[in-house]
Amino acid sequence: MARRALITGITGQDGSYLAEHLLNEGYQVWGLIRGQANPRKLRVSRLASELSFVDGDLMDQSSLVSAVETVQPEEVYNLGAISFVPMSWQQPELVTEINGMGVLRMLEAIRMVSGLHHSRNGGTQIRFYQASSSEMFGKAFETPQRESTPFHPRSPYGVAKAYGHFITKNYRESFGMYAVSGMLFNHESPRRGAEFVTRKISLAVARIKQGYQDKLHLGNLDAVRDWGFAGDYVRAMHLMLQQPECGDYVIGTGQMHSVRDAVRIAFTHVGLNWEDHVVVDPALVRPAEVEVLCADPAVAKNQLGWEPTVDFPQLMQMMVDCDLLQVTREREYADLMPASGW
Ligand code: NAP
Ligand code: GDD
Repeated sequence: MARRALITGITGQDGSYLAEHLLNEGYQVWGLIRGQANPRKLRVSRLASELSFVDGDLMDQSSLVSAVETVQPEEVYNLGAISFVPMSWQQPELVTEINGMGVLRMLEAIRMVSGLHHSRNGGTQIRFYQASSSEMFGKAFETPQRESTPFHPRSPYGVAKAYGHFITKNYRESFGMYAVSGMLFNHESPRRGAEFVTRKISLAVARIKQGYQDKLHLGNLDAVRDWGFAGDYVRAMHLMLQQPECGDYVIGTGQMHSVRDAVRIAFTHVGLNWEDHVVVDPALVRPAEVEVLCADPAVAKNQLGWEPTVDFPQLMQMMVDCDLLQVTREREYADLMPASGW
């Protein structure tokens, strides 16, 4: 019988790639869907028509218990979160509820459905993956960051993710649950939300190239990240849950690039000079910035046999190429629409 996986956050970037990967691996894949008539459900159903869905919300404990009971999964991937860091200064309580307490609620749902009551009695068949983040390293104590690097989160988002990380570890130690925290560095793709810097750049480059936009407003061009391709990172999530012993893993490429590098690569790819178009807007600089993040993925490489397949220039170029096509399609569609009324 096919193994069953339950994914929270299936409508997001990572959820869509993970669903496709698990379907290819022969899983029966269920996605947790929140809200009434969530429009993103349609998009992910088009990507993978064999998906099943169950209603639920990380804010609602009983909905998670019911989802785990309905699906009876062997593996749960908790990717659901508010993932845009600046939103965590605007709505810190909501972000803490979903990204922090939401992890506890999902662990509790698994514990209740599995009947785990006593300390370290183990025995649950449900394996749990928590989508932790390099944002937990924040103002990093060392570079590159590895599994043992202490945390110094710089945003309410990072603080909530640190709670999620530690509560995952605690349920492993308290109840013998197979619970893994994947500390993933930034990963991008053509499916990345338009609010994140790489996609903001690739969309703007496509629009500027086609004459629909002239300027791109950005914040801190000196911020440095370790950016990889999301399709590679979901393979690592799955590998983490296939190990004989569970642990926590850092996933990244080990390569550092600045936002300025990202801009330069993207504009150069279409034959434009970035300095003619990029405007630095101090309003986009964050209250507390994470200046430099870079992974040491040695443990993942040695224990999981995981390696990235797409480097940063290839990633930016892939995103720009997809957005050139998307912008063309959008304009063709707009030209077909009447100028007013419907
Ligand atoms: P994303 O595209 O923003 O997707 C977030 C997902 O969370 C969406 O499917 C959203 O569903 C869901 N969600 C939001 N609030 C929820 C709630 N109350 N209950 C249930 N689901 C909820 O994010 P992503 O890039 O795929 O990232 C996936 C996870 O990895 C997140 O936890 C993120 O924090 C973490 N992470 C990401 C990166 C990265 O670079 N991408 C790096 C490290 C960690 P709706 O359709 O209902 O809004
Ligand atoms: N979004 C955005 N928009 N970021 C900008 C801009 C801009 O106009 N200008 C400069 N930046 C800088 C940010 O200040 C930050 O240092 C860097 O670009 C990356 O920003 P994002 O792409 O928004 O990603 P993030 O690093 O804050 O967070 C992402 O990665 C985390 C893992 O490290 C998200 O995916 C998080 O959910 C994830 O946990």
